Amino acid sequence: MEAVLFSPYTIRGVTLKNRIVMSPMCMYSCHHEDGKVENWHKIHYASRAVGQVGLIVVEATAVTPQGRISSRDLGIWSNEHISGLQELVSLMKEHGAKTAIQLAHAGRKATIDGEIIAPSPIAFDENMRVPKEMTRADIEETIQAFQNGARRAKEAGFDIIEIHAAHGYLINEFLSPLTNKRQDEYGGSAENRYRFLSEIIDAVREVWDGPLFVRISASDYHPEGLTVEDYVEYAKRMKAQGVDLIDVSSGAVVPAKFDVYPGYQVRFAERIRHGADIATGAVGLITSGLQAEEILRNERADLIFIGRELLRDPYWPRTAAKQLGVALEAPVQYSRGW
Ligand code: FNR
Repeated sequence: MEAVLFSPYTIRGVTLKNRIVMSPMCMYSCHHEDGKVENWHKIHYASRAVGQVGLIVVEATAVTPQGRISSRDLGIWSNEHISGLQELVSLMKEHGAKTAIQLAHAGRKATIDGEIIAPSPIAFDENMRVPKEMTRADIEETIQAFQNGARRAKEAGFDIIEIHAAHGYLINEFLSPLTNKRQDEYGGSAENRYRFLSEIIDAVREVWDGPLFVRISASDYHPEGLTVEDYVEYAKRMKAQGVDLIDVSSGAVVPAKFDVYPGYQVRFAERIRHGADIATGAVGLITSGLQAEEILRNERADLIFIGRELLRDPYWPRTAAKQLGVALEAPVQYSRGW
């Protein structure tokens, strides 16, 4: 059988060999608290390239030390990070994967020592610290840090950049009215809350002409929060600014509960794809080849992001190919026993 899951996909001149994307997942494995690539990262990511993943998105990588979720996050805040990332990229590429990096700032969810920052001084919950309200200078510096991160990602050789605007981290905190209570031009109206992301996209685009993805949380799961319809409008703006694909996740802006079931976020990817006429990635409890094929064939998303199932099974593309009756080419070393 021909499977769309195993068909190539070209986006802004970069061709992925299939539609399988390894979703960004923090490894918290920088043991020296310096944000540098360790052996763990090299083995972990290269294994998924050997496993025939089409695109690997390297985990949330901090654009400033203050923007780390934990002191063990990967970092891209200094030129000293470039060589480790370069090596990581070449290992993944050597095994046929295309490579992306997720540029991130944790905002009020940072758990590092010292001051943490956010659009408004509101803690995530009673266990987290109250962040400092960002000044204009903080905003400008952070936008600059995303641009510097993008320049370094380019130097490291990544094919694609993804901006992390989901899961209640800094950019998401600006977008949502639940976390952004600012009175200036960065808060209030939908347009004002979008301004920070808009300026980051423009700043990244000044130094990056490759494919650009943005990960969003398409629902705050809160009566006063953002819904997928708000994100259809934001996605239209992003498309106009040269964003190529929206990676559609949800939640974690505030500690709201929501139901998780197979494909629980696919309906958001589908709505944004059709509502804003932009490519989308579907993610969230997609675990079988058949499930992935259904999403692609019904034109609900363009790429399939796999998270935890790729932790359990680094050769998941092979597993999915078997389910779909597709003959997947093996790495030459494994061709007798694949
Ligand atoms: C994640 N997730 C995540 N998301 C993100 O945008 N950046 C990140 O760095 C991380 N880190 C991370 C670490 C670990 C260990 C897990 C399990 C998850 C979320 C992840 O990319 C994915 O969206 C969710 O796990 C849902 O997809 P699955 O796992 O059901 O396929």
